[in-house]
Amino acid sequence: MPRRNVYVTRTIPGEPLEALRSRHDVDINPDDRPLTRDELLLQVRGRDAVITLLTDTIDAEVLDAAGPQCRIFANYAVGFNNFDLEAATRRGVILTNTPGVLDEATATHAWALLLAVARRIPETERCLRAGQWTGWGPLQFLGQDVDHQTLGIAGLGRIGSRMAAKAAAFDMRVIYHNLERVPEFERSCGATFVDKATLLRESDFLSLHLPLMDGTRHYIGAPELAAMKPTAILVNTGRGPLVDEQALVAALRNGTIWGAGLDVFELEPLLAPGLAGLENVVIVPHTASATLRTRVAMGRIAVENVLSVLAGGPPQTCINPAVLRPGGSPA
Ligand code: DGY
Repeated sequence: MPRRNVYVTRTIPGEPLEALRSRHDVDINPDDRPLTRDELLLQVRGRDAVITLLTDTIDAEVLDAAGPQCRIFANYAVGFNNFDLEAATRRGVILTNTPGVLDEATATHAWALLLAVARRIPETERCLRAGQWTGWGPLQFLGQDVDHQTLGIAGLGRIGSRMAAKAAAFDMRVIYHNLERVPEFERSCGATFVDKATLLRESDFLSLHLPLMDGTRHYIGAPELAAMKPTAILVNTGRGPLVDEQALVAALRNGTIWGAGLDVFELEPLLAPGLAGLENVVIVPHTASATLRTRVAMGRIAVENVLSVLAGGPPQTCINPAVLRPGGSPA
C-alpha cells in the first residue's frame, strides 16, 4: 500500500501516532495549541486523511481546502458538533468519532462534579487554604445529601447510562428524559423514563449527557432553571451550549437553583461574565475524558479509522454512513 499523507491538528498522547507513522507520512501541529482558522485551511491542503479535535471547525471551506483526494476526517472526540455532516457527506468524505472508550471516565467525572458541588469541596478547601477557617461549627458549610435522592439524566446514551448505573452506590432513584425511550438501559441501570417537565421538577441532581444539535442548544435556559428545585444541582459534562450560561449565572446568583458543576462552557475557553466569581459553582476545563488510558484509547480509535479507510476498508465508527458502500467500505 502506498504511503499516504496524513495531518494531525494537535499532538495526542501514547503510541497510536507511532502506528500511523509506521504506515504513512504524518505531519502533526508542532505546537500544543489549536490551529488558527488560517493555519487549519493551509495544513489540510492535499492531505489524504486528517485527525481533528473538537476545537477544529470542519465545514465546507475546510473540506474544499483539503481537496477531493481527502478520504476521512477522524475526530479525536465522541462529540462531533464541530463537523458539518451534510457538507462532508455531499463530498463523499468519511467522518468518524471515538465512542465507547470515554464513557466511564466521563461519567465518573460528572459524579466528581456532583459530589464536589453537593459537599462544597472546592469552596471549603479555598477557605481552609486562605487561613480563614476558625474551627468546627454546626452552621458551617451545610451541603446537600446525595444518598436516597433523585438523579435526573438528560440523554440516556452510553455515558448517561453509566452515570445512572453509578447512582446505585448512593441508593438513588434515577429518572431520565430522551428523545426516545431506551428499554435496554432502563433495565441495566434501573432508570425510569419521564417527560422533560417531570425531569426538571423532580431531579435533585440533573446531569446532561445530550449531544449538541439544533434541537438541544439551550436545553437548559431561564424557564427550565425556574422549573427546577431551589435545592437542585445541575451538572454538565456534555457540551457548553446545552446550557444558556448567562441564564445559569443569574439562577445561581438568585438562588433559583442551589449549585452547578460544569466541565464545558458555551464559548470555550471563555466563561460567561460572573461565573468564575460564584461560590456555588464548580468549574473545570473540559477534562471529563482526561485520563491517560482514555485519551490513548481515543487516539487508537481515530488512528484505526484512518488506517482502515486509507487501506480501502470500513471505518469502525462512521458518523455519516451514507458515504459508505453497502458492505461498509468507502465508496
Ligand atoms: C468528547 O470526546 O466529545 C469529549 O468532550 C472530550 O472530552
